[in-house]
Amino acid sequence: MSNRSRTGIPNSLQEHWMPFTSNKGFKKDPRLITEAKGVYIKDHKGRTQIDASSGLFCNPLGHGRKEIINAITKQLETLDFVTPFQQGFGGSFELATKISKHTPGDLNQIFYTICGSTAVETALKISIAYHKARGQGHRFRFVGRERAYHGMNIGGTSVGGMINNVKTFANILMPGVVHMRHTHLPEHKFVKGQPETGAELASDLERIAKNFGAENIAACIVEPISGSTGTLVPPKGYLNKLREICDKHEILLIFDEVITGWGRTGSAFAAQEYGVTPDIMTMAKATTNGIVPMGVVAVKEKIYDTIVNSAPEGVIEMFHGYTYSGIPVAVAAALAVQDIFEKEDIFNRAKNLSSYFLDGLFSLKDIDCVENIRGYGLMGGIDIKMSEKPGKAGFSVYKECYEAGVNFKATGDCLIIAPPFICEKSHIDEIVEKLRKGIGNYSKTSKKNSK
Ligand SMILES: Cc1ncc(COP(=O)(O)O)c(C=O)c1O
Repeated sequence: MSNRSRTGIPNSLQEHWMPFTSNKGFKKDPRLITEAKGVYIKDHKGRTQIDASSGLFCNPLGHGRKEIINAITKQLETLDFVTPFQQGFGGSFELATKISKHTPGDLNQIFYTICGSTAVETALKISIAYHKARGQGHRFRFVGRERAYHGMNIGGTSVGGMINNVKTFANILMPGVVHMRHTHLPEHKFVKGQPETGAELASDLERIAKNFGAENIAACIVEPISGSTGTLVPPKGYLNKLREICDKHEILLIFDEVITGWGRTGSAFAAQEYGVTPDIMTMAKATTNGIVPMGVVAVKEKIYDTIVNSAPEGVIEMFHGYTYSGIPVAVAAALAVQDIFEKEDIFNRAKNLSSYFLDGLFSLKDIDCVENIRGYGLMGGIDIKMSEKPGKAGFSVYKECYEAGVNFKATGDCLIIAPPFICEKSHIDEIVEKLRKGIGNYSKTSKKNSK
């Protein structure tokens, strides 16, 4: 039996069909990560990089945390798996109690899923189940928003608003979905924090309610800050307005906090940061510091009670769940993460680092290929001026920055920067310095090529 860690170069790159990757490009010029510790990662050529997007928003506590590794190991040695249907284990209940202490209002009922995408599907299905249980089964429509990302399952893709994710699959998407406009206005140039203009865009929901019949709408789903299309921060008052319209028409408001959850904005959730309480909230990624897949849906007590009390005693109240809903290894990781959140006062740590981070990010404004910068908390987006086609410049900058020693995710022509919360100011300086080098190198090369 082999116990080597599989981090070397494999014999063949052919068989693995990689997700959201240019497979042909990658296999010609692979970037294989071999080690990760703290805020640094190393690749197969021995290059060390600083992790500037917390491994896709997953690892705010940094890599290789011994407390989490020990908790997982201990859990696996005692109880490695429990069938989650009609039986359970103590840990998942303990975790639900802990999570419910952080969620806003009375979003105290916790449903476990496998990832962000399954958390979104669950949130959509709970909305439908709730309306059915209260005699409003005619509510079948969902309202999403342009430039939203809600994962890759059919429901999430349908309410999402990223064109490349939708094009190929348009004919199998969920019927009855309507999209509001996104909130990124042309005047939102180099705005640090929440833009002053754009709250009125929330009235798109009112128009949709008028045009399609408010009584047919089950829920409206938004990311409080759109993460995957480059940190689109909500205009001041926008989320409050959505809340008011939802209340008026008995439409459920779902916040997808897969990225913004667990401290990214400086509060536990964006809901608290912006003072708007949704009816249902999703989370994933940082819940386990990204180490074991896990999604969570937090639901208002009233919704849970309505669904559960509508079924006769002894009958399954909602026919929904996953084999891996709240499995011991994920729960153990999440409980260890909760301990670290508390011990290291981690949300305040993120809050205190925010202005230093945003100042650093905005200092890159002078580089001539930088078109726009946005940011909130420890979350930022840098738009690179488009070259011949969308995404080309973004990917070229990503590669230059990779060479310069800073690792992050680029979507289209936007660089997504989201440092781990355990960063010291010196790490932020290093991220900014290396971004300047990588973006600067791209800028020089592209100018030379255009001559
Ligand atoms: C807001 C949001 N929702 C859902 C998802 C999907 O999560 P997962 O990739 O874990 O399925 C993501 C992933 O980035 C996300 O950002």
